[in-house]
Amino acid sequence: MIINDEKDVTPAVLQAMSGAPDARIRQIGEAFVKHMHAFVREVKLTEKEWEYGVDFLNRIGKQTTDTHNEGVLFSDTIGVSTLVCLMNNGANGSTETAAALLGPFWRMRSPETPNGGSLLRSPTPGPALFADCRVVDPEGRPMAGVEVDVWHSSTTGMYENQDPEQADHNLRGKFHTDAEGRFSFRSILPAGYPIPVDGPVGDMVLFQKREPWRPAHIHFLLHKPGFKTLVTQVFVQGAQHLENDVVFGVTKALVGDYRRHETGTAPAPDVTDPWYTLDYTFHMEEGDSNLPQPPIK
Ligand code: BEZ
Ligand code: FE
Repeated sequence: MIINDEKDVTPAVLQAMSGAPDARIRQIGEAFVKHMHAFVREVKLTEKEWEYGVDFLNRIGKQTTDTHNEGVLFSDTIGVSTLVCLMNNGANGSTETAAALLGPFWRMRSPETPNGGSLLRSPTPGPALFADCRVVDPEGRPMAGVEVDVWHSSTTGMYENQDPEQADHNLRGKFHTDAEGRFSFRSILPAGYPIPVDGPVGDMVLFQKREPWRPAHIHFLLHKPGFKTLVTQVFVQGAQHLENDVVFGVTKALVGDYRRHETGTAPAPDVTDPWYTLDYTFHMEEGDSNLPQPPIK
């Protein structure tokens, strides 16, 4: 079709794409073009602004490496990751869910660790944390044999892949629930941290005068065939930035009972006060047990 004026562009593109044989791909492609064109019209996008937008996308690509995923970070900071998560969990968004965004730091093949074992693979300062968690099915029955990946940042707010001071896979581990649906581990209380701000997403966040911080949390990924893979985070109650998480990950169900202990019998002889416990129950739902694509290697 030969274009006469700007009004012809949208129908011409939709017509060009209409032969895609897969109905779902056709639906997504058409809606994307309609919304993009409507956006361009609504804001009356200038040529300079278009150039800036294309450069922004190119910078996201260039910033992405095997150990850093700027694309996921962009989706997270504009709320798209959380929106997709909440629409696809909790009976497709109709009930409260224990799910949360994956974030850019999940690695596959974290070290198999026995229940009660430690996540520390190199000396890591911080108050001791003893987590004792339970996994239940939609009827509240304990789920045995669930594979659980755990990962979190250090007290300096860095994941091991960002920090040459930490051993490979420090503060990461893979557990299996026992017959009572329990898994447990020792670690340190995580700290909140700023997301990486040295790329285009950081430019955007700082330009918008937002604080780039995430509240302290631990990530969990629970997997068992026949159940929907549960990707989530459990936040430290009372942590800074619970109300303004830069990636919109905090829901009420995910604020965990991290209990501080000043005195009394610590569960291990090397523990000094204060130390913490976390007691949390994960609710899985039936569904697709596919694993997500790891954002980093
Ligand atoms: C994280 O929790 O690991 C995370 C999530 C989104 C952006 C950056 C980090
Ligand atoms: Fe995190």
